[in-house]
Amino acid sequence: MKLRTVGWSLLGLVVAVVAAGAIVVAKDRPGPGTPDGLLATMQQLDTNTRAAGDAIAARNWPLVAELADRLNHHVEPPLGQKLRVMLWLRTQAPNFRGYDGKLRTAAVAMGAAAKAGDGQAVSASYAQLQSACTGCHEKYQAAYVAHFQGGK
Ligand code: HEC
Repeated sequence: MKLRTVGWSLLGLVVAVVAAGAIVVAKDRPGPGTPDGLLATMQQLDTNTRAAGDAIAARNWPLVAELADRLNHHVEPPLGQKLRVMLWLRTQAPNFRGYDGKLRTAAVAMGAAAKAGDGQAVSASYAQLQSACTGCHEKYQAAYVAHFQGGK
């Protein structure tokens, strides 16, 4: 009798742990149409890229430098989502990450040029930044949306 009670308690514990695990997984997996981690990154990049364009037009170099820093250290998607994206990309993963690398390199160059007050170099690196965005979008955005959001 006593052993059976212990058995049931253990079973209850296992069920509770599995259920808690399922909730964690479910929470990490955004439903269709929900802005997920990557989208949050993109929205941040979009806001800061536009703001940098305005700041360049206004020749506000301190602001350009600050925005360049934010573009370089943009928010990262949660680890679980990164893993899902990498599993989906498989052999393409290094290429995908390469665009992020180009983005960061351009942002660093833009920050340095802004600090030096070199408008020409700022514009050149801003163009490189945008070509990193466009390059990745042309190659992956549509397929990403089709795969993760069912073509939203
Ligand atoms: C490494 C690849 C990559 C780079 C680099 C990249 N993006 Fe994206 N971007 C994506 C993917 C994938 C999506 C689709 C995400 C989605 O719809 O959930 C996307 C979507 C977007 C969207 C659309 C969001 C929406 O509401 O549907 C915007 C805006 C955007 N990116 C801005 C930028 C800007 C600005 C940059 C450069 C500063 C940039 N991205 C760089 C991969 C990238």
